[in-house]
Amino acid sequence: MSKPIVVIGSLNMDFVVQMEKLPLRGETVRGWAFQMLPGGKGANQACTAGRLGGCCRMVGCVGEDVFGEQLKSSLQSAGVDTGAVKTVREEATGVALINVESGGQNQIVVAAGANARLSPVDVESALIMVQEGYLLTQLESPMETVEAAARLARARGMVTILDPAPARPLSTSLLQNIDLLTPNETEALLLLGQRASAVNLEEAREIASQLLKRGPRQIIVKLGEKGAWLADWQGGRHFPAPKVTAVDTTAAGDTFNGALAVGLAEGRSLDQAIPFANCAAAISVTRLGAQASIPSRHEVAALLTQHAQFIPA
Ligand code: RIB
Repeated sequence: MSKPIVVIGSLNMDFVVQMEKLPLRGETVRGWAFQMLPGGKGANQACTAGRLGGCCRMVGCVGEDVFGEQLKSSLQSAGVDTGAVKTVREEATGVALINVESGGQNQIVVAAGANARLSPVDVESALIMVQEGYLLTQLESPMETVEAAARLARARGMVTILDPAPARPLSTSLLQNIDLLTPNETEALLLLGQRASAVNLEEAREIASQLLKRGPRQIIVKLGEKGAWLADWQGGRHFPAPKVTAVDTTAAGDTFNGALAVGLAEGRSLDQAIPFANCAAAISVTRLGAQASIPSRHEVAALLTQHAQFIPA
């Protein structure tokens, strides 16, 4: 029996334009397609968990507008319980402006809108009946809400997973309430006060061991096409990702986290859940959009079978 997964975070309508090359500051470039697609880091993680068969509840805020309804409906189609998604009158639903260039790299700007109204009281009411399971949260919600979520979830015996995206400085008290911190390479460096850059496996090992000293019990550094590095006080190991041709990397990290939580909630170890999450994220980058790119359970299982040689024995 799968344990519950509660996602506390953002819901955004993504305004996506594809182009040959991302614009430089002050530059205008021609795009060739525009779409409005469901997104938001929290909602993307919830959508992944639901689509892959997890028992998932979304806690967040939308405005009283058509985007809010569309975002709830996208989650409901993935089997996510949206009973704790609050509609607020004073703000519009959050939006993200996303530029995607050939090869899949992107630029994202988020206007929080209703997401800024998610309060510690909302979190408390959502978690009051929860006794176990997994909390997924990110940094597109107010910091006091993220801190309350981690503290209350810990107190209720849940495993807390924080995706520190978009990167912001984090308090020691928050990090000490986190079981699993899952930055990408840029976020990991920014959390350590260093400049963003791509890292190799040796650097990932070093970054993860420095982050462990800040309080979380385990760290997964998401390395994009290079896979993921897992570290705890016993040591670290690398999990390679399947090779794919990227179309859009938006929400790859969200897909990883949602899939990871499903694996863990089904009772799998991290050694089993990380390859499952790597496969889900790899498929997502082959398609445009955030929630639109999240694979089915069947697709992930098929890729995992081909990828089995990369799973540690
Ligand atoms: O992680 C991808 C997401 O970031 C997008 O869906 C966008 O809404 C922003 O929140």
